[in-house]
Amino acid sequence: MLRHPSKIITSATSYFMHQYTKHYLNVDNPSKGLPLPPENKPYLLYVHVPFCSMFCPYCSFNKFTYTKEAASVYFEHLRQEILHVKSLGYDFDYLVIGGGTPLIDEDELIKTIELIKTQFNIQHVSCESDPNHIKPKTVLRLDGLIDRLSIGVQTFDDTLLKKLGRFEKFGSGEEVYRKIESMLGILPITSVDLIFNFPEQSEAGLVRDLELLKKLSPEQTSVYPLMTSSLVKNSVRKSLGEFSMAHEMAFFKTIKKQLKTAYPSRHGWSFSKEQDAIIDEYIIDHEEYVGVGSGSFSFLKDTLYLNEFALDQYSSHIQNRNSAVIKEKTFPQNSQMYYRLMVDLFNGKLSKRKFHSMFGVEIEEALGKELMLLRLAKTVVEDEHTIQTTEFGDYLFLVLMKEFYMGMDRIRNNARKHLSL
Ligand SMILES: C[S@@+](CC[C@H](N)C(=O)[O-])C[C@H]1O[C@@H](n2cnc3c(N)ncnc32)[C@H](O)[C@@H]1O
Ligand code: SF4
Repeated sequence: MLRHPSKIITSATSYFMHQYTKHYLNVDNPSKGLPLPPENKPYLLYVHVPFCSMFCPYCSFNKFTYTKEAASVYFEHLRQEILHVKSLGYDFDYLVIGGGTPLIDEDELIKTIELIKTQFNIQHVSCESDPNHIKPKTVLRLDGLIDRLSIGVQTFDDTLLKKLGRFEKFGSGEEVYRKIESMLGILPITSVDLIFNFPEQSEAGLVRDLELLKKLSPEQTSVYPLMTSSLVKNSVRKSLGEFSMAHEMAFFKTIKKQLKTAYPSRHGWSFSKEQDAIIDEYIIDHEEYVGVGSGSFSFLKDTLYLNEFALDQYSSHIQNRNSAVIKEKTFPQNSQMYYRLMVDLFNGKLSKRKFHSMFGVEIEEALGKELMLLRLAKTVVEDEHTIQTTEFGDYLFLVLMKEFYMGMDRIRNNARKHLSL
């Protein structure tokens, strides 16, 4: 049977990106820690809270089983690391807190955000939550501390929730819907995370999820394609069945169509009612950032830094030298150019002038061959100043970004090989 050219191009792109990240995306060189920052440059601070009371089969983020004792030791060291970053001279205007489950120990989290706000000129705070830590009483405590809360729903479909183990832990789709409904409007922005392309998910099932989302009407939503890196491939297969890419492109088209009117602003897989509201893909939207906590990444200038993953080792690094950065990798300029091309076109648009001001060279001169391939594959249209994605380009850059995220998972996988959870 003949395959449609778009499928061939997608498979080839995915294969190429997989090989590329396998080759280049590794962080192996020992590191002495973060460099000193230039003066007066505010960065984004990412804080990782690596605790969960259950593990979902698809989730590759760095996490450990929650105990009150482990969390209180961890938060103490996290605050010590934050003060160390301050002593190096860093300032931050944007704070993203991710996990794991950041709100698993509410008091510790609030104490940590308050410390960060006294130390830095923070303008925006974005935080993740599961559906169990969003009772109005809790969220009211966060008012004034957090601007945006993104809640992991994944799907409202009870059959899928049961297979994921989330039905027992977080409740049925309807219960999760009610929990979110009761806290909407307390914080400036609530966002709902969904995942699409679960094995055996049907078009009708996806449309139902999107209809419920629109009825609930949070300010933002992220609808992620299921990512199945080597870290989670087997557990996804075991709990959900065989994974396939056959419908992914059609599903993404459906998502864009369904959300077009209610959420007109799109950033890759994130959608917002307001044009310039914050969307917290911190890796994607910020060229440089500092990550604190176990298993965090920092990217500064041309170098990716990696923090220790194991909790006991994380604690001893902080006790001994105030920093848990253990490895680093500096990327050559052409990798940074590829990255910029991928990220900007994932967001739909690349400014030629911005590219020139970042790298001191015209994009045509630096990435002429790559642009020619993108044009041939009918993924971009352009004028003198900008390059924009076509409908097919939107999907192709989602595939590239997904492969990039799975490449980051390989770094996590290598770092976590010897850990017990
Ligand atoms: C780090 S998780 C934290 C969410 C929160 N702990 C919860 O369970 O509700 C943030 C989001 O990443 C997304 N995510 C995690 N693993 C994913 C995967 N393998 N593929 C696609 N999205 C994923 C989910 O939508 C999830 O809500
Ligand atoms: S999705 Fe959330 S609760 Fe599930 S394992 Fe990942 S971080 Fe933990």
